[in-house]
Amino acid sequence: MRRRLGPGARDYARSVSSAIAVIVVAAGSGTRLGHAEPKAFVPLGGGTVLAEAVSGVLAMRQAPHLVLVVPGDRVETARERFAADAGAAGASLDVVAGGASRQESVAAGLAVLPASVQTVLVHDAARALTPALLFDEVAAAVQARRHGIVPALDVVDTVKRVADDGRVIETVDRSSLRAVQTPQGFPRASLDHAYATARDEFTDDAALVAAAGLVVETVPGDVRAFKITVPADLRRAEQLVAERRAAAAVGRPAAGPADGGASEAAHPALPRIGTGTDVHAFADDDSPLWLAGLHWPGERGLSGHSDGDAAAHAVCDALLAAAGLGDVGSIFGTADVRFAGAHGEVFLAETRRLVEASGYVIGNVTVQIVGNRPKLAPRRDEAEALLSRVLGAPVSVAATTSDALGFTGRGEGVAAVATALIVPA
Ligand code: CTP
Ligand code: MG
Repeated sequence: MRRRLGPGARDYARSVSSAIAVIVVAAGSGTRLGHAEPKAFVPLGGGTVLAEAVSGVLAMRQAPHLVLVVPGDRVETARERFAADAGAAGASLDVVAGGASRQESVAAGLAVLPASVQTVLVHDAARALTPALLFDEVAAAVQARRHGIVPALDVVDTVKRVADDGRVIETVDRSSLRAVQTPQGFPRASLDHAYATARDEFTDDAALVAAAGLVVETVPGDVRAFKITVPADLRRAEQLVAERRAAAAVGRPAAGPADGGASEAAHPALPRIGTGTDVHAFADDDSPLWLAGLHWPGERGLSGHSDGDAAAHAVCDALLAAAGLGDVGSIFGTADVRFAGAHGEVFLAETRRLVEASGYVIGNVTVQIVGNRPKLAPRRDEAEALLSRVLGAPVSVAATTSDALGFTGRGEGVAAVATALIVPA
């Protein structure tokens, strides 16, 4: 219902969208990159690092108020370069001069935010290839949880503490370590307060906000949000942009369809649909609830070999059925220890990989959760943004009760029904 807007919907949407601002800091010199131009103005994929970053922001679901913070002598050229793009995306634009440090540059952006802005995302232009869905997800998480949100990735390398002379002192337990990225999102009042009271220099906004005694939480990061720092990073970015362009121009490489091509031979361009359902009982112990890819603090958990995320599993089944690849049970067998206790995201990412490897891309997915708890509505946007990002396609999440009937009505468990559309690549 929430998207069924009446007369004046466009104005309403505009006023809602301007409640989110994205400050893109692009005023650094890029010493480590060693290019003649400031880093954000270095050529990338036919445009610049900054243009790539801006295109991610302007593809957000809700057009934001965009603030670009650039070197003082680039303010006018940047405004001319991006005004039309922002306008076409329905976003408002401000361009201001940065300061001597990243922190001063963010402060310069904060200083010009319109009063209507409630949620602020701060983003490094140097993370030029950050997908729009990560912006959506961070914004949705800030709005749902009302505190700071940072995208974070697990640290995959073994980490050592090393002395100045290079001698290894110890191996650090990496299980609680995360590498954090941008965009980092905050309720506007928290960020204003933290910046007004900051006494030290910090390398990211989450550290500054945490130093002010405010809560910051993580959401899953994205490898494509890596920071262009040294020349090798720029080469990696060039390669990724080139691959993206090639895929868009000619379609993805068509691997053979899952059934050997028999049905596709007759209708090579037909999309395919699939349906999936899943049921999990509530657990008797105090295990946490994971549903629709999200952790639900304070809610009773679901039992299962994995985390019991019925919504994620129904989506996997729908996608696998659409591609003719079998079902969750046959692909992710309970004997496979890799999936014991795994979260829905792991299954979804692997399912997406299998679907794409079989020559399809995901068109869209819907999933409906049937149960009394948890109440979905407050976190629906968050769930949709997360699932959409993992699958690289729009995911709609709905919920209903079963009018007190059956096992869902008695509160014994949760069911989920999903439909997926996939199209030949
Ligand atoms: N930044 C900024 N103002 C500064 C310093 C940095 O707006 N005074 C921005 C950069 O443009 C970049 C982001 O902060 O988008 C992250 O900083 P970093 O990657 O360190 O970029 P640079 O400072 O430009 O690079 P270097 O440290 O190698 O000089
Ligand atoms: Mg720097």
